[in-house]
Amino acid sequence: MIVPFREILKDAFLHHYGVGAFNCLSLENVLGAIAAAERFRSPIILQIAEVQFPYSPLELMVPMFIEKARQASVPVCVHLDHGLSFETCARAIRLGCNSVMIDSSSLPFDQNVALTCEVVRMARAFGVDVEAELGKVGDAGKDEAEADVFTDVEESARFIEQTRIDALAVAIGNKHGKYTATPRLNIRRLEEIRDRNQLPLVLHGGSGTSDEDFKSCVHNGISKVNVATAIQLGVTERVRQYVQQPDANYIDMKDVIVRASQEVVERHILLFESNDRC
Ligand code: 13P
Repeated sequence: MIVPFREILKDAFLHHYGVGAFNCLSLENVLGAIAAAERFRSPIILQIAEVQFPYSPLELMVPMFIEKARQASVPVCVHLDHGLSFETCARAIRLGCNSVMIDSSSLPFDQNVALTCEVVRMARAFGVDVEAELGKVGDAGKDEAEADVFTDVEESARFIEQTRIDALAVAIGNKHGKYTATPRLNIRRLEEIRDRNQLPLVLHGGSGTSDEDFKSCVHNGISKVNVATAIQLGVTERVRQYVQQPDANYIDMKDVIVRASQEVVERHILLFESNDRC
């Protein structure tokens, strides 16, 4: 069933667990993710990011997400991840996304506020919820040497007050993509942001985070955890193993990909403690 972003995150925030938001690039990823959520009775967020549109176009993915979400026996939210412009958020809303992320975190604070406000205003008119980002998450391997890009506590309070968003993506040492070494997240900063704001917080760049940091995050204000790379790495590994078998065939290959996607999502659901919540 389709359930609003705000409702899914509210329960997670109140009960100190995280909802996995899984970037699904294919039908097989979607089938695996929903099967995992249903098996463990977990709410789940299906999402696609603008940088992924060249491989998995928004107009093809969102209708598929929505149909599968409707059929699911657990709460599912369909979300635009990292929308880079007002226009992309509008496209996602028109297609039926329950929530959108406007990512203007690379802009100066005032411009980030201004663009986020425009998106919030439009989204509210359609009953759609909004996530935005403050601080710079960046990419693993590329942005390692940056100075203090962590979300500033006082700025986070001003940002939330001025934009009235529903969830804030924070930068606490997390990065997107494949880490060269396991990161150590700044849980102290996370606690400060949580104490100052009382709003569901989002951890991007979930893949490669240590189990210990994941637990500290979901117990301390992170209500949504984004996972993308881990799914594709899990699928690649399983496909590699499968094609080495002498009786490998193209029909079963599809199941291999669904099962690999399911495995990765199940592992994260258990880590985020979103199992047995519905
Ligand atoms: P990873 O690919 O590092 O899991 O990041 C996912 C993400 O944050 C998508 O927005």
